[in-house]
Amino acid sequence: MAITTCVFDAYGTLFDVAAAARQAASEPDFSALKDSWPQVAEHWRTKQLNYSWLRAVTGAHCDFWEVTQNGLDWALEKTGHAGDAALRARLLALYWELQAYPEVHKMLQTLKAGGLNTAILSNGSPAMLKGAVDSAGIGADLDALLSVESVGIFKPDAKVYDLVGAKFGCAKDEVLFVSSNGWDAAAATGYGFGTAWVNRSNEPMDRLPWTPAHTLKDLTGIPALAGV
Ligand code: LAC
Repeated sequence: MAITTCVFDAYGTLFDVAAAARQAASEPDFSALKDSWPQVAEHWRTKQLNYSWLRAVTGAHCDFWEVTQNGLDWALEKTGHAGDAALRARLLALYWELQAYPEVHKMLQTLKAGGLNTAILSNGSPAMLKGAVDSAGIGADLDALLSVESVGIFKPDAKVYDLVGAKFGCAKDEVLFVSSNGWDAAAATGYGFGTAWVNRSNEPMDRLPWTPAHTLKDLTGIPALAGV
């Protein structure tokens, strides 16, 4: 069936999650991060996601802002920055205004010009998503910001992917779901969406029961995959 609806993961897919640590490290006040920022960014992201899955399987949901803070606290302690309250505050503030990847704006405009529905489907809370979208200036090209907060459980629970059909009234096979998280694209394949994994850093494929239908290096090929 033809694709009518293109749905994007937010963090790591449209927005560069390493940008917060990279940006802080470039600021004179936070030169302590000069060498350690890549480790901080990686531990932060890994723990944030681990905590989201652990909260989902134990039924102990909280919002993504809380696991984002918990992940950062673990990362700062791991990398020798525990107790640096100014650094913590700066990194958290930057998370609300992450840079979008350079090709995002034009890609979304091409999809909209082609008549497709466009949306974000993310673990992020509604306030976090609005902050990031406003800061990147891409709100006009997105029809919906769908947050897991409406179902109270993180990805990859099927209730999250159900939000797309509930919003747009489309069949699963009319959806192209795009994520830089291999596990998210894989689980969405299992759910029944068409999927694209954006693998910018040449990561190995996750060993799961499903695999993404397509793998791309960045988002520029998405309109072609969606038939636009
Ligand atoms: C999201 C995380 C998984 O935006 O990147 O849902």
